[in-house]
Amino acid sequence: MNKILIVYYSRSGNTKKMAIAIAEGAKNVSGVEVELKNYESPEKLVNFDAILIGAPTYHHGMTNNVKNFLEEIALHNVSLKDKIGAVFGSYGWSGEAPRLVLEVMKYKFGMKVIESPLLLKYAPDLDGLERCKEFGKKIAEELSI
Ligand SMILES: Cc1cc2nc3c(=O)[nH]c(=O)nc-3n(C[C@H](O)[C@H](O)[C@H](O)COP(=O)(O)O)c2cc1C
Repeated sequence: MNKILIVYYSRSGNTKKMAIAIAEGAKNVSGVEVELKNYESPEKLVNFDAILIGAPTYHHGMTNNVKNFLEEIALHNVSLKDKIGAVFGSYGWSGEAPRLVLEVMKYKFGMKVIESPLLLKYAPDLDGLERCKEFGKKIAEELSI
């Protein structure tokens, strides 16, 4: 069974809606188990084959909890090398956070990242939710190969 972890932060619920739809899309692929959380302790990350981070953009960057999560992984020397990594997030006008998180995953942790991050403006509409489901499905299928 391939395991996917989706960790997200969401202040006003928009990235949360994306996270739920991504989980739904991934769960539809057989042989895949999905966990959806606001936080996971770094030592447990080794149990997952793919790690997705939901990061909304605030003040032209990622929020402190997302930054702290990445910091904690680095401090604990948790090896995420060659695990699949992907990032998504809601934004309003500039949307820097997902790209910044993806760079840490790629260059610091050596993860196999899915280009490009999925960004949606404010609350996802029906089309946006569909894109989230597709994103989740694509990652789950990537694991099944
Ligand atoms: C105080 C504040 C600062 C923000 N700064 C940015 C920003 O720099 N760039 C941007 O694209 N969106 C910015 N936004 C918009 C949020 O990214 C947007 O509302 C998003 O949907 C929030 O996602 P969430 O509901 O998952 O927290 C900001 C919103 C607030 C309330």
